[in-house]
Order: sequence, then structure tokens, then C-alpha cells
Amino acid sequence: MSTDTNHSSGGGHAVALRAERRWAIFAVALIVLMLAVIVYSGLHWAMMPPSRVETIDPSRLQLSGEFVEDNLGSAVEPDGSVVVRFIAQQYSFTPQCLLVPADTPITIRTTSADVVHGLLVTDTNINTMVVPGYVSTMNTRFDTPGDHTMPCHEFCGVGHQGMWARVTVVPKDQFPLLTPTARTRCVPL
Ligand code: CUA
Repeated sequence: MSTDTNHSSGGGHAVALRAERRWAIFAVALIVLMLAVIVYSGLHWAMMPPSRVETIDPSRLQLSGEFVEDNLGSAVEPDGSVVVRFIAQQYSFTPQCLLVPADTPITIRTTSADVVHGLLVTDTNINTMVVPGYVSTMNTRFDTPGDHTMPCHEFCGVGHQGMWARVTVVPKDQFPLLTPTARTRCVPL
């Protein structure tokens, strides 16, 4: 009787030990897999975790610096790439429409003038938070011309559901013909 009890408790112990060992192996394997994914995507896709934090004074955006009104919208850089700058605030994006060329490296730079907003561009993987005090930067490229909507996806107050902008992608050869005003207002040719 007593040997039976000993035997069964010893068996239970062995089962528990095996189960725990399996869980430990599973947990370690999961960590190794996640590290492998980070290393692989870092090397193969050149994806890096954010390496710097860019801060900005949200109360002075309109007064001086990169996000003054004249500097918003799309600007062509010396290397031919395009930088798009805009501000998020309750309850709109400024400018309301972003006009960019297709098949061109695009850098998006945005910040918030008040509370936390978010943005995504439909049919793309552009998706970021827009946090007051910080500049959100994304590098992207649009393969084909077309229109995309860009809603705010972070609840930011009573007008949140009405906060969105448009992204218009024009053919690469048309873009240089547009005036800066046409670019910030999305007026096509
Ligand atoms: Cu801005 Cu929701």
C-alpha cells in the first residue's frame, strides 16, 4: 500500500518534472525564435528599432522651425526624394491633402500640436502614432498613382471620427510640374 503511494507520487513528480522541462524548452525556444526574427529582419529587411527620439516644442510649431505653415506639404530634396511635412491637431491634419509622386522615396515627418493622434494610410503599411513633443518619421514609397485616405486612428476627442486627410499619389513625371500651392492643396494638373 505504502509502496503503491510512493510509486504513484514518484510518478506524479516525474510527470510534473517532464511537463516543466517541456515548458522551459518551449519558452526558451520562443525567445530564441523571437531573437532570430529580430536579427533576420534587421539584416535582411534593414528594419531597425527606433534609434533616436526627436523632440519638438508643440506650443511653438506655428511660430518657427520645420513645421511653420510655409514649410508644410511636399518638398523635393536635393537627392530627388520627397519629404512630406504635416501637423496633426484636434480635429484635422494640416494640410488636409498630401500630394506625392509615385515611385519616389518619400519621408513622412509629422507631429502633434495638442494631444496624441494616430495615422494610417489605407492600402499601405504606413501606420504611426503622432505624439505631441515628438516628431514621427517614416520612410515609404508609393508604387502606383492613386488616392488614399489617411484617418486618425487614435481616439483624440469628440471630433475624432471626423479627423482624416487624403493622400494623392500622382505620376512621377507630373509632380515637378505642380506649383507648391497645388501640392499642398492636392490640385491636380
Ligand atoms: Cu486625432 Cu483621433
